[in-house]
Amino acid sequence: MTRKFAVIAATIASVTLTLTGLALAADDSPLAKQMEAINKKNNAIRKATKSATAWKKDGKTVAADAREIAKIGKEAKKDKSASETAKKPHAEWEKLSDAMIKAADELAVLADKAGTTQPQAKDAFNAVAKSCTECHNVFRVDEDK
Ligand code: HEC
Repeated sequence: MTRKFAVIAATIASVTLTLTGLALAADDSPLAKQMEAINKKNNAIRKATKSATAWKKDGKTVAADAREIAKIGKEAKKDKSASETAKKPHAEWEKLSDAMIKAADELAVLADKAGTTQPQAKDAFNAVAKSCTECHNVFRVDEDK
């Protein structure tokens, strides 16, 4: 490797590191972290409610995961960053947060009941998923996602 090439390679490597660092920092807002945690629980519930077999096997994990979504949602409800970025009233943020919290609480109650069937659980999960989309449509303004 010539010296010149080595310098160029080192420069590219350091620029890449800087860009990666910036991307990580941008994603590291408390709200983004809360959303990632909510998303994990949401994916687990989607999986556990997608078929009768999955429900039979993993249905027992759903109530706790749904409660966790509601809990994180209550924290995120206080975060003013998204309403400031979107220049929208914080009351609208709180309303959309409450819709998710309510849907997640309803799913938790249903999932705790002994006789709840997979289609019932899936319907309740769909209501949670809808509450995510409804808020993202209004507040998730970063166009690269
Ligand atoms: C009250 C509004 C609101 C609700 C409800 C909501 N989100 Fe979000 N979500 C946002 C906003 C705003 C962002 C962008 C946050 C950022 O990047 O700083 C976001 C970002 C995300 C991200 C990307 C996180 C990242 O790494 O940057 C995921 C994944 C996500 N939401 C999943 C969900 C899921 C799943 C639900 C429902 C269970 C949900 N969200 C409910 C407002 C909401």
